[in-house]
Amino acid sequence: MNKQNKKYILKAEKIIPGVSQLLGKRPEMYLKDGNWPTYYKKAKGINIWDLDNKKYYDFSLVSAGTCVLGYSDNDVNKASIKAIRSGSISTLNPPEDVELAEVLLKDHKWAGGVRYVRGGGESMRIAIRLARAFTKKEKILFCGYHGWHDWYLAANHKSKKNLDFQLLPGLKPLGVPKGLSGTVIPFRYNNKSDFENIIKKNIKNTAAVVIEPCREGYPNKKFISKLRSITKKNKCVLIFDEITSGFRLNSSGAHKLVNINPDLVIYGKTIANGIPMGAIIGRKDLMNFTTKTFISSVFWTEKIGPASALAFIKKHKKLKLERKLIKIGKKIKKIWLDAAKKNKLKIEISGIDPLASFKIICPNWPATITYFIQEMLKFNILSTNQCYANYMHNDKSIKLYKEACFKVFYNISKILEKDNIEDYLEGPVKQMGFNRLTGSK
Ligand SMILES: Cc1ncc(COP(=O)(O)O)c(C=O)c1O
Repeated sequence: MNKQNKKYILKAEKIIPGVSQLLGKRPEMYLKDGNWPTYYKKAKGINIWDLDNKKYYDFSLVSAGTCVLGYSDNDVNKASIKAIRSGSISTLNPPEDVELAEVLLKDHKWAGGVRYVRGGGESMRIAIRLARAFTKKEKILFCGYHGWHDWYLAANHKSKKNLDFQLLPGLKPLGVPKGLSGTVIPFRYNNKSDFENIIKKNIKNTAAVVIEPCREGYPNKKFISKLRSITKKNKCVLIFDEITSGFRLNSSGAHKLVNINPDLVIYGKTIANGIPMGAIIGRKDLMNFTTKTFISSVFWTEKIGPASALAFIKKHKKLKLERKLIKIGKKIKKIWLDAAKKNKLKIEISGIDPLASFKIICPNWPATITYFIQEMLKFNILSTNQCYANYMHNDKSIKLYKEACFKVFYNISKILEKDNIEDYLEGPVKQMGFNRLTGSK
């Protein structure tokens, strides 16, 4: 591995706890012992150059799924540079806030108001505050991942296992007030017994039901409409967290596929193709509570975010980007399936096409996926068991990925026939990721 990279990791380990600000970008989530590039000098399209100018093809999550148009998209860049040149922030507000609200409300006719943030977790925090303020109730029922804030981690006060199947196993709610215990209860997506036991039992005292409309599969109309009718009947708020699912199956939310409107919907991540931006869109009576309680922050008033989001949404619609992402996602899934079939490996493939993941059924999956990442890197491909489809995954790069996958799957099948795959690792086994991302039960 390159010298500069190791130098930076060693320095970071001393002065930046965890090395990265995002769990998913810690090097040990891919390869430990300085074997993962970790730092980048430049990113463009689907390529990343590390600190020693080595060029990689990104077939992993493409920055946690933030840049569906590819890194450093020219049109989004143009809008953000124009915003910087005209003064990225001032005592007055950017008109782009209004222009973006008009675009978003045109796409969400049921809604009557929009607020902005710059991060996903904080937008979910606002949604929860609004629901509690509006309903004057406190309990939250949720499914999926919704950020790092206290309201969410409090789920693990009642039982340390509550977040096991939503996020990470064994997470301790350190620093989260015990007073929040019992205020937030998880349930599983489309699980009949959870619906009967958790949702029905608690709904009367509930302020909000929060879901990611889709993750391991496409949105389930029957389940979501059950949630819609039970929340309506019990006067609680239905919140769709589209921070990851948004802008992949159409030019707004995945929930549009099932034609069910929430009371609040949240977008983040890719809404401005990697420029920090997030939006909370909601029913007018609910959104009016943003001024009745106190929700306010200086950097939510800067111009680069909304200007970039306007450019991104315009380009997304023009390209009909979702069609391309779905097509590319299907190709990636087929590569995994064909490579497994050819090498007689048992494989499970899950996720919506643009957010696909695989798991080889074998005795030591953590070591096997570590080996996959390690060997794919030798083809200059950044990979893991998930691939977030990207507009810049063109035929040439997909061909490279396919050839590498077939070779690595072949090696895996040969090793698994007789050997311990851990003996083939050049470093320790990687740290396993979010359960909800890997589709693990
Ligand atoms: C569905 C969902 N909600 C919330 C978040 C938190 O967003 P952020 O990391 O921007 O705070 C994420 C991030 O992965 C997410 O996928």
